[in-house]
Amino acid sequence: MKTALITGITGQDGSYLAEFLLKKNYKVIGVMRRSSTTTHERIEHILDKITLAQADMHDQGSLINLIEEYQPTEVYNLAAQSFVHSSWNQPILTGDVNALGVTRLLETIRYVNPKIRFYQASSSEMFGKVQEIPQNEKTPFYPRSPYGVAKVYGHWITVNYRESFNIFASSGILFNHESPRRGLEFVTRKISDGVARIKLGLSDRLNLGNLDAQRDWGFAGDFVEAMWLMLQQSEPNNYVIGTGETHSVREFCEIAFDYVGLEYEKYVINDEHNFRPAEVDLLISDPSQAMKDLGWKYKVSFKELVKMMVDADLNRLEYHHYSN
Ligand code: NAP
Ligand code: GDD
Repeated sequence: MKTALITGITGQDGSYLAEFLLKKNYKVIGVMRRSSTTTHERIEHILDKITLAQADMHDQGSLINLIEEYQPTEVYNLAAQSFVHSSWNQPILTGDVNALGVTRLLETIRYVNPKIRFYQASSSEMFGKVQEIPQNEKTPFYPRSPYGVAKVYGHWITVNYRESFNIFASSGILFNHESPRRGLEFVTRKISDGVARIKLGLSDRLNLGNLDAQRDWGFAGDFVEAMWLMLQQSEPNNYVIGTGETHSVREFCEIAFDYVGLEYEKYVINDEHNFRPAEVDLLISDPSQAMKDLGWKYKVSFKELVKMMVDADLNRLEYHHYSN
């Protein structure tokens, strides 16, 4: 039986990846940092099927103990300070976790067992002010936030450990992927939650920032399969993963509000606090390399994703509303 170790198990992607790997018969070790409260919400339903272990990306010793104890076959590094907006307030923390944290984990693998296969959660935010449309594995990076800068470091250190020490280290350059388990501060979930609240009479407005930003949004459940596929290849590599379509925040609003019979213009308010010091205006992937090598393609369409998220928030809020 293969053992997979997932950092960031309590996050959106960690929960979907754990479900996926359990179905593939992996023993799953989920890594959590210490917290004064439980952060199990997204993995509650699989807690009896996985092993939880404690470590922090800031702490080299905790990572060494982890890898020595569990001797995984594959390590998926999903842990990060993942909210771009917060990275301007916490640039040093973001750099320590998202950049140096990757080196700490790679160093651990190098010393404890260099045969371990390593996946790094890189990001389309690395393309930032895009130098080419659409973006592929060869498109130059131009990050526009401390988050993006740190992810560029994480990506290149992964490539360097591959080339310097022959570690099977792959970097997945994933475009935005969403789900009902997305954090409430990200724009898609903020909208689906806002629409559900307004529909149920729990709120009468939704404060947003730049409605013209365009993103290549897919479903997280589809994207975790690509992570696994990357580690099953004969050689490590970098892969762009996305849908190849782009949509604006405004379009997301239109579809989400329309789905429940409302017009977004009546409820959405432009709020300067939600604008960023520097914006990534447009992201759109060219995932043809992944389609060819990995045989991967997304399954859930943009419209299906919007509806899935609105339905989930309506159900969640209705349940809370009527059971309280
Ligand atoms: P997420 O929901 O924010 O999850 C992040 C995870 O990292 C959480 O489990 C969090 O733990 C953990 N974490 C944060 N700091 C840590 C630390 N110091 N030590 C140990 N764990 C720590 O993010 P996601 O959407 O699942 O994304 C997963 C990864 O993919 C991230 O690296 C993200 O940057 C990257 N990525 C995401 C997307 C996307 O669209 N979702 C696209 C490209 C790349 P707590 O629960 O304790 O906070
Ligand atoms: N969060 C948020 N809140 N974003 C808003 C809002 C708002 O009220 N209004 C407009 N936006 C715009 C942002 O300015 C940005 O252009 C876009 O919506 C998407 O913002 P987020 O959902 O916060 O995601 P992100 O694209 O910045 O980052 C996500 O995707 C990256 C991959 O490209 C995160 O998941 C990153 O971790 C990931 O790497």
